[in-house]
Amino acid sequence: MDRNLDVLLIDSDENSRSVIKSYLSEINGVGISAEFSNFERGFSIAAESGKCAVIVDISENLERAISDIKDLKAKNKDALVIALSNRASADIIIKAMRAGAKEFIAKPVIKSEFQEVFQNIIKDLDSTESTDSCKIISTFSNKGGIGKTSIAVNLAVELAQISKEKVALIDLNLQLGDVATFLDLTPPFAMDYVADNINNLDQDELLKAMTRYKNTSLYVIADPLSIDKSKDITAEQIKCILTALKKNFSYIVIDIGTNIDSKTIAALDNSDLILLIAIVNLPAIRSTQRCMDLFDKLGYSQEKIKLVLNRYMENEDIKTSDIEEVVKQKVYWKIPNNYLTMMSAINKGVPVNEINPDANVALNYKEFASKVSDYLITQKLSKNYNREARI
Ligand SMILES: Nc1ncnc2c1ncn2[C@@H]1O[C@H](COP(=O)(O)OP(=O)(O)O)[C@@H](O)[C@H]1O
Ligand SMILES: [Mg+2]
Repeated sequence: MDRNLDVLLIDSDENSRSVIKSYLSEINGVGISAEFSNFERGFSIAAESGKCAVIVDISENLERAISDIKDLKAKNKDALVIALSNRASADIIIKAMRAGAKEFIAKPVIKSEFQEVFQNIIKDLDSTESTDSCKIISTFSNKGGIGKTSIAVNLAVELAQISKEKVALIDLNLQLGDVATFLDLTPPFAMDYVADNINNLDQDELLKAMTRYKNTSLYVIADPLSIDKSKDITAEQIKCILTALKKNFSYIVIDIGTNIDSKTIAALDNSDLILLIAIVNLPAIRSTQRCMDLFDKLGYSQEKIKLVLNRYMENEDIKTSDIEEVVKQKVYWKIPNNYLTMMSAINKGVPVNEINPDANVALNYKEFASKVSDYLITQKLSKNYNREARI
């Protein structure tokens, strides 16, 4: 489809601007509307330009450029920022993406990569709203009492805190879920209402049907109030809910039930990352091994599954290396055992960081959320451009 996308180019290097302009001239429907060697001027015009693509070189004066990108996104959320840099380290890429850049391209810019990025941007514009920046994370185990809900809830809270972007937390334990209780919420609407109405709700109505956690950017869809209602929810409805949420949320965290049914599989299929939760005891490790067999049958890649040990204590009889050997998967993260703090959080209906932000488990969740978010950003980048994925 032919469309007119205005492109603003901010780069102090004249040669680099010429190269980019020549690459752009070969792409249908995009045209340079302005070029700037002066960053201040470039960013101030971009802030007023509505829907546009802003290509900006962040090679020099990185911190300033990052803060300019943040500022621009706050003033003009429709600006699609493409950051360029002659340093393509994971740190810089993550900083740029966190600030709000949609894409990153290493300098010197290679024509095929550049054009691929623009084709992706145009594709996104053609679909009414962009969905590819939303990341779906599930917590899973085929055993109860392992810590799935604790992890989903605390991870979602921390992701909202660090990103300040919208995070959805969904309770797929459709019979007797715990998410609402863990956050002391009494949702007026739950999963059954959202599922029944998903095709008729616009983005605002969908947001209103969710329950916001205090004054944060975390929104919850709780399990249905009555068990009867949960039976009617279908896998197709779950897929539609995820598709709708992807348009408006940066992260979706799903607390998946222990039942392996079509709804669970729909959620797992649609997840970018499955956190397979285990604790260090023999029965739990055996069932973790069975989950890995299931994922293998479902054809999931290794990158999609991360093994998390909950309630971890040093000097266990069973060593981490033993678990890795049995499960044939490296341990990605360990959450320390801290029963008192966890129980106190659950009983008060708050995340652990509200009980004691300095508790080992609260600090651990914060680091865990950063690691997960960085991993998902770098995954997306390395999928897009293998060249700069020195990650
Ligand atoms: N890091 C931890 N340390 C100690 N106890 C924990 C930890 N995480 C969770 N628990 C406890 O484990 C129990 C089960 O947790 P829950 O999140 O409900 O598991 P699931 O959702 O897998 O059934 C709860 O009593 C909770 O307090
Ligand atoms: Mg649970």
